[in-house]
Amino acid sequence: LYIDWDILMAEKNGYDHFMLKEIEEQPRAYRDTLRGRIDEDSQSITLPDMMMNPEHIREIKHIQIVACGTAYHAACVGKSIIERMTRIPVEIDVASEYRYRQPIIQEHTLVIAVSQSGETADTLAAIREAKLSGARVLAITNVVGSSVAREADHLLMTWAGPEIAVASTKAYTSQLIAFYLLALYIGQSIGSMDLAARAQLLTQIKELPDQVQNMLGHMTQIEQIAEHIAGYHDLYFIGRGLDYTIAMEASLKLKEISYIHSEAYPAGELKHGSLALIEDGTPVIALATQEVVLEKTISNIREVKARGAYVIGVAFEGNMELAQAADEVIYVPRTDALLAPAIAIIPLQLLAYYAALARGNDVDKPRNLAKSVTVE
Ligand code: AGP
Repeated sequence: LYIDWDILMAEKNGYDHFMLKEIEEQPRAYRDTLRGRIDEDSQSITLPDMMMNPEHIREIKHIQIVACGTAYHAACVGKSIIERMTRIPVEIDVASEYRYRQPIIQEHTLVIAVSQSGETADTLAAIREAKLSGARVLAITNVVGSSVAREADHLLMTWAGPEIAVASTKAYTSQLIAFYLLALYIGQSIGSMDLAARAQLLTQIKELPDQVQNMLGHMTQIEQIAEHIAGYHDLYFIGRGLDYTIAMEASLKLKEISYIHSEAYPAGELKHGSLALIEDGTPVIALATQEVVLEKTISNIREVKARGAYVIGVAFEGNMELAQAADEVIYVPRTDALLAPAIAIIPLQLLAYYAALARGNDVDKPRNLAKSVTVE
């Protein structure tokens, strides 16, 4: 009996919407993207399909990441992770901007193109621009044989399976897994990482699928919050560092399927203008997984609460300080601060899903949008 898994996975098999199915497929997508890429004996990363040996890696002096939409938000996490682990400077660009800013591509520049579909016109054009300038291009994509996959010099596939819903979920988090693997691979190739720190991070990366699986079973709080925010027209996500990258992706999810206007702000930036937008009852979702800046985030929460905001915090289990400052807290399983985006985004994907349902929207096919933007 031949089972075409792609067809099987592309069916809703019992779910009301592809988006919910794909949110719940994330533990499997993590496992499949990790599979065969961590050598259990040496606890090192092996990425044979990428065809970049340590010598290639050691030549890299500068990285540019180009992508669109949610893939760009994965790129924002990728920048932070790669720079923290390798100290190689990383620039990130929205692909449609990259092409026109005359990017400075030097001899040892690696350009990384991130695209779930592998058919996004802006990202393809950016790849062509980079190659014309002599850059080596690595693609992180979810579709085998896609245009991006074919035109890049190197490939690091995500194995999320077919993603049908317009709003990207499992492909985004699989891109994060790919970036964690890539950063660790570069780090081990150039010797930039403390071995104990690397081993600790690897252990926690391997725990992510089970942590996400367990979390997915306890999400009734999210449905209640979605009911609450569904009546609002404006909502803000704030965070510092990696929490800001999570805020950006959570904001896009909410906008594109619930049609609630929302914006993501660096928490420290609000007081420079946007604070004027906060009114009585305005929902503000404050990401607070980066506990090294928790006190500052809490003072930003107090700033918006003083102006009437209703603050929903997002933090690792055990963070009791946040509960003192926010109106309510969404707790997620504790992991390394660097891995926070791969966990804290999950309840916020569901928040967008339930808010869209509450508003009676077409969750899988939101208005005006296409799954892959093949026009410029
Ligand atoms: C994300 O939910 C959107 N569907 C959209 O922003 C998407 O991420 C963007 O168009 C990039 O698509 P790609 O990853 O297929 O290149």
